[in-house]
Amino acid sequence: MRTLLILTALTLIISCKQDKKSGEIEDTPMQTEVKSEDLAVRGEKLMATYCYQCHDPKMSIDNNLAPPMIAVKNYYIMEETTKEAFTADLLAWMSGPKAENTKMPDAIGKYGLMSHQVYPDSVIIGIAEYLYDNEVEQPEWYQNHHEEMHGSDEQ
Ligand code: HEC
Repeated sequence: MRTLLILTALTLIISCKQDKKSGEIEDTPMQTEVKSEDLAVRGEKLMATYCYQCHDPKMSIDNNLAPPMIAVKNYYIMEETTKEAFTADLLAWMSGPKAENTKMPDAIGKYGLMSHQVYPDSVIIGIAEYLYDNEVEQPEWYQNHHEEMHGSDEQ
C-alpha cells in the first residue's frame, strides 16, 4: 500500500516536471502512470551511482566492501516474491539497516552491518524496479562462489 502511494506520488512529480518542460501545460494531458521500464532505466543509473560505491560488481571477492547486487537479488527475490514485496523489503532495509532484519547474515559476518544510507524512496523504488526485472551485472567470481555456497542446481 505504501509503495503504491509512493508510486502515485512519483507519477505526479514526474508528470508535473514533464508538463513544465514541454511548456504546453494546458494541452498536455496529465500522465497517470510511470512506465515501469522508465523507472528501471533510471534505477540502473541510480544503483551504479549510489550502491556501487560499495556493491561494485567489478571488485574481487577479497577487495569488495559489500556483496554484489546479484547476491542481494538472489537472497531477496525467491520464486514467489512479488515485485511489490521486494520493493517493500528494500525500502524497509534502506530505512535503517538492523542486524535482526537481515536476509544475508553471512554478509554481515564478512563485511559488517551496512551503514545507514539515506536516499529518497523514489530512488530505492527505481532500483527495486530495475533489479526485479533485469539481469544485474555479476562479478566473474560470483558463479563459483554461489555454487560452493548453495550447490549448482539451486538458482
Ligand atoms: C557504504 C557502503 C554501502 C553503500 C553505499 C550501500 N551499501 Fe548496501 N550493504 C553494504 C554492506 C557492507 C552490506 C552487507 C552487510 C549487511 O547486510 O548489512 C550491504 C547489504 C545490503 C543489502 C542486504 C541487507 C541484508 O543483510 O539483508 C541490501 C538490500 C543493500 N545493501 C542495498 C543497498 C542499496 C539498494 C544501496 C544503494 C542505494 C546500497 N545498499 C548502498 C554497504 C553499502
